[in-house]
Amino acid sequence: MTDLYLGADRATESEAAAVDAALRARGVDPVVRAETERLYTSGRARRRERRHYLLPALHALQNAAGWISPGGINYIAGYDGLASSVRAEGGHVHLGPCLGQCERAPALFVQGAGGRPDYVPADAEPFELPQAGDPSLRLLRRIGTADPESLESYIAHGGYEALRRAGQMGAEAVLEAVAASGLSGRGGAAFPTGVKWRAVAAETGRPKHVVANCDESEPGTFKDRIVMEQDPFAGAIERLRTAGLLGPDAAGTGHDFDIAIWRGAGAYICGEETALFNSLEGFRGEPRNKPPFPTTHGSVGEPTAINNPETLLNVLDVIIEGPDAYRSRGTERSPGTKLLCLSGNVRRSGLYEVPFGTTLGDLLALAGGITGTGELQAVLMGGAAGSFVGPDSLGLPLTLEDTRAAGTTLGSGVVMAFDTSVDMTDVVVRIAEFFRNESCGQCVPCRVGAVRQHETLVQMQKRGSLSPAPRPSSTTWPR
Ligand SMILES: Cc1cc2nc3c(=O)[nH]c(=O)nc-3n(C[C@H](O)[C@H](O)[C@H](O)COP(=O)(O)O)c2cc1C
Repeated sequence: MTDLYLGADRATESEAAAVDAALRARGVDPVVRAETERLYTSGRARRRERRHYLLPALHALQNAAGWISPGGINYIAGYDGLASSVRAEGGHVHLGPCLGQCERAPALFVQGAGGRPDYVPADAEPFELPQAGDPSLRLLRRIGTADPESLESYIAHGGYEALRRAGQMGAEAVLEAVAASGLSGRGGAAFPTGVKWRAVAAETGRPKHVVANCDESEPGTFKDRIVMEQDPFAGAIERLRTAGLLGPDAAGTGHDFDIAIWRGAGAYICGEETALFNSLEGFRGEPRNKPPFPTTHGSVGEPTAINNPETLLNVLDVIIEGPDAYRSRGTERSPGTKLLCLSGNVRRSGLYEVPFGTTLGDLLALAGGITGTGELQAVLMGGAAGSFVGPDSLGLPLTLEDTRAAGTTLGSGVVMAFDTSVDMTDVVVRIAEFFRNESCGQCVPCRVGAVRQHETLVQMQKRGSLSPAPRPSSTTWPR
């Protein structure tokens, strides 16, 4: 038994009710709390069993109160098994440096409280996919044509065809097709999906997990959000269970397969696969040492295939049309198509799908060219963790191999354009600020280095010693 003093703040009735409701919905009964502030927990085993309820409880509190109040934290700590998890997480409130809405910037998120829902003003605008109806689309082909609210519409547009075929093919043939397609992960590291899946399949004797990494907190990235919002039956859950597509005999395949959504809390590092596992198990969102890799020790220490949603979406086509047809698009070493998140000074920002090998210039032209001064100064490729290229890179084919050879990356699919009026110094300082805020603090080079880097850049900016925005010879786009 441990005891813990958390201070005298008390939750309001509505905070307490919200936490109780969220935990009761997950089968956790409220416990009778001690009258004093001295709280008792019943040891490590209980904590291990329960700590993954911490994030849902914190979300409920945030929704009820609009913030993580000290009284609310004390209330959560009163739950058997959650007290020391709460203490480990702390009670600070952080501003989110990235809202994942670059295609419709300026981004705003209004935190609801007291039962009012959260609110993203841009959601009131009708959704538009710039390429909607283009017959060459593969991954985005249902967006703008199928009704995202209707399971029937999804099925009428070919939904679950891949699942049916996979059931007929059997596991070995699916593994072979995925390997033969040359599909690589779309979460940033481009790891071969076939190799990952085969490693998980080779594990025996323990439960296995598939995790779709929907964290997507790389600044400038919004592809997974759009796919999930606009094509949700490639993963919607409750209605699928009712329709028999999930559960003990999922879609008549004879396999027991179910899906649960676990909501994170917006930390950049929790997109890193092992930090994500820690977070969903109720631990601090910090990466684990590798090896062991998730394929043998992933979620709750069991074999796990963790993939980006775009990667999983590609598998549908690999199954439906076969690896050869899949490889007919893109290049030999980068087969298939790629989702790219265009934002910044482009005329039609938004989500685009192009075959690997499309040049950067063609992609920008597809988005209507450069706005503002009409002259391109730089493009941020791959996200805040990516790199900048200049107007001399318009001929760069967007493939894994060409971007790597050019010293840049496709990363998470970010293509953020800046016209010649943008102060690039400011952009770099903001990126440094992002990494300073988002360092999980685990390792010294980042914990200390990201702070020093930001401080140094701010000082240099104040002194004017960061070189001013270059004015290279650049392409002028029609206005
Ligand atoms: C700091 C950091 C953040 C990451 N964020 C994401 C993310 O938001 N989404 C994602 O799919 N992968 C992210 N990754 C990559 C994952 O660790 C992992 O490689 C990926 O989910 C594997 O899926 P894939 O093979 O389909 O690409 C991140 C990696 C790092 C180092």
